[in-house]
Amino acid sequence: KIPAVCVIGSLNMDLTMTTKKMPKQGETVIGEHFETYPGGKGANQAVAAARLGANVTMIGAVGTDAFGDSLLKSLSQEGINVEGISKISDVATGVASIIMSDHDNRIIVASGANAFVTPELVEQYHEQIRDSDIVLVQLETPLEAIVRTIEIANEHSIPVIVNPAPFQELPEAILTGSTFLTPNEIELEAMKQETISNSIREKIILTKGADGVQFFENGRSKDVKSYQVKVADTTGAGDTFNGALATQLGSGFPLTDAVHYANAAAALSVTKLGAQGGMPTNVEVKQFIITRQKTPS
Ligand code: RIB
Ligand code: NA
Repeated sequence: KIPAVCVIGSLNMDLTMTTKKMPKQGETVIGEHFETYPGGKGANQAVAAARLGANVTMIGAVGTDAFGDSLLKSLSQEGINVEGISKISDVATGVASIIMSDHDNRIIVASGANAFVTPELVEQYHEQIRDSDIVLVQLETPLEAIVRTIEIANEHSIPVIVNPAPFQELPEAILTGSTFLTPNEIELEAMKQETISNSIREKIILTKGADGVQFFENGRSKDVKSYQVKVADTTGAGDTFNGALATQLGSGFPLTDAVHYANAAAALSVTKLGAQGGMPTNVEVKQFIITRQKTPS
């Protein structure tokens, strides 16, 4: 079944610099390369799902500048329905300043138009949410809009994956209204400051990068090992995982299968530069899984 995935989230232009040495406070270093890549956790997850074969609708906002036009164009080229992406005048499109060195990457996001994703804007796309098989959100757009999204999804019994990135304190409505929460280790640490009940804990699918994935199946914790791959850029690995997870769950696959598949998709995504570079197609993921079964690790 081709799943209908609705992503409510951010679009950023990633301004990526690579450097051998991270500057210290007050220090200037000469880096290596500069490149712009389409990004934003929302857009990345939408692209991941679309490449894997989902029918994707994205709800979000860009500014009326060149970055906004270029992001819209790139999403359309991926076959994503962009009618739900508003152009906000006199506001800059979101940008992410990314500094990448060999084993480290640091990101600062200037939200710009992403801050204009309001509950009212989400409400305009009530039908798109209702008509989807699964909804995917992150925390780069205002929390009130995410809460509204979850309310609409809950009203129509549509499952919702909440990727709590970058971390913000989660209101009760998000904790209880979500179907799955997909933090990484830093985000889970921050979540633990909030009191997590058992019913919330079992919704958590923890992504640990090179250490794999941990999730719950029938109340029991399960571990999935990560694949060893040659890393070019880990930016967007979590987004690939989430987009893949949504696609699989939206198609009706059981959680365990969906997690294994998403783990493989995320591994492939880090082998190329850029958050969306390296995001695989369904055929590539299946091929990769088969190859790795023949020659372990
Ligand atoms: O998750 C990676 C993304 O985070 C980047 O594409 C950047 O835009 C930031 O939003
Ligand atoms: Na990549």
